[in-house]
Amino acid sequence: MKIAIILGTRPEIVKMSPVIRACSRMSIEFSIIHTGQHYSYEMDRIFFRDLELPGAAYNLEIGSGMHGAQTARMLIGLEKILMEDPHDAVLVQGDTNTVLAGALVAAKLGIMLGHVEAGLRSYDRSMPEEINRIVADHLSDLLFAPTEATAANLRGEGRPDSAIFVTGNTVVDAVVQNLSIAGRDRSIFSRLGIEEGNYILVTAHRQENVDRRENLSGILEGIELVGNEFGVPVLYPIHPRTKKMIGHFDIQVPDNVRLLDPLGYFEFLLLEASARLVLTDSGGIQEECCILKTPCVTMRNNTERPETIEVGGNILAGTNPEAILSGAKVMDLRPRTWENPFGDGNSGEKILQHLQETLAR
Ligand code: UD1
Ligand code: UDP
Repeated sequence: MKIAIILGTRPEIVKMSPVIRACSRMSIEFSIIHTGQHYSYEMDRIFFRDLELPGAAYNLEIGSGMHGAQTARMLIGLEKILMEDPHDAVLVQGDTNTVLAGALVAAKLGIMLGHVEAGLRSYDRSMPEEINRIVADHLSDLLFAPTEATAANLRGEGRPDSAIFVTGNTVVDAVVQNLSIAGRDRSIFSRLGIEEGNYILVTAHRQENVDRRENLSGILEGIELVGNEFGVPVLYPIHPRTKKMIGHFDIQVPDNVRLLDPLGYFEFLLLEASARLVLTDSGGIQEECCILKTPCVTMRNNTERPETIEVGGNILAGTNPEAILSGAKVMDLRPRTWENPFGDGNSGEKILQHLQETLAR
């Protein structure tokens, strides 16, 4: 069995890393095919370095662009690679344009396709990620759903029971495998001049948030209010999309918000684990906070991760500044006793076992 692991962005590298490690442990032959959707050192290679992953066998170096052009370039490149270098199965993870392209090419070439993190739904088709998830889920032969609720979403859309496997989310494997390593070097706290437990961590990069002036301004005003109310530093490792849009809209970043370059996985995980509160619109960070028992305020009106809210670890606040502040006050008082709904940290192995069994049939 030889599998192609297609990835292209920061969260895919993090969440595929347990699958890649499990391939090595289980002596499964694999190739990493990188689309190059993310390419800046701190969005890409730093994760290969931190996580000690083998280099990609192929990198298409697609880079940024409009959705259609970016996806089209990926389709051309992936089709060529998979025709010239046959693989028994393709794995994609999540909901990016890389996933859309990988899924389409595998399905058209008749290669068995597995979707890791299948079945998530925000029920908001204005999000590009929702379109990508729906297409990938309907093209995949194997659907690795992180939870029972995501499996139910797939069944509700007519996907057959025989294709659905509830495996947990590989994000748990990644946290379990890396948290203690991340904790060995705590110099980031002194370097940033902050105390453990006494700062707020922010990320925001969703297209529907940061490409709209009103939403981006609302987020920046909201985190300013939270910083003032709590009287603690606000740290914001900024995604390149957001940095670009702040410049484009010529928006003033509040004085009490400290912008940082995007951080490597170990430093970010450590900051997340020790934060008083996290404010974000990221998918993976909602999950990681829930696992780390760090209260999370999600600056969106919906989430495809409702499990985080149901267990009590997350709240939806949208992008209105006052709503962000009141969400932060609510979450700050929550006892950090909720359960992790995303599995036991062995998802990578489970996914590969199901894949092996299916290919052996
Ligand atoms: C993509 C995913 C999103 C995911 C996010 C993870 C899609 C549709 N979106 O969004 O679901 O949450 O990745 O971070 O696939 N840029 C750089 N350097 C890079 C990458 C991007 O400077 O390495 C800048 C470019 O200006 C680019 C912009 O960021 O135009 C957006 O990049 P893109 O990959 O199109 O989307 P993301 O916002 O990163
Ligand atoms: N992350 C990181 N450094 C940062 C911000 C995020 O290592 O400065 C990690 C984070 O721990 C998580 C992943 O990147 O594993 C989330 O990626 P992102 O928010 O870009 O994408 P999403 O999950 O929303 O698709």
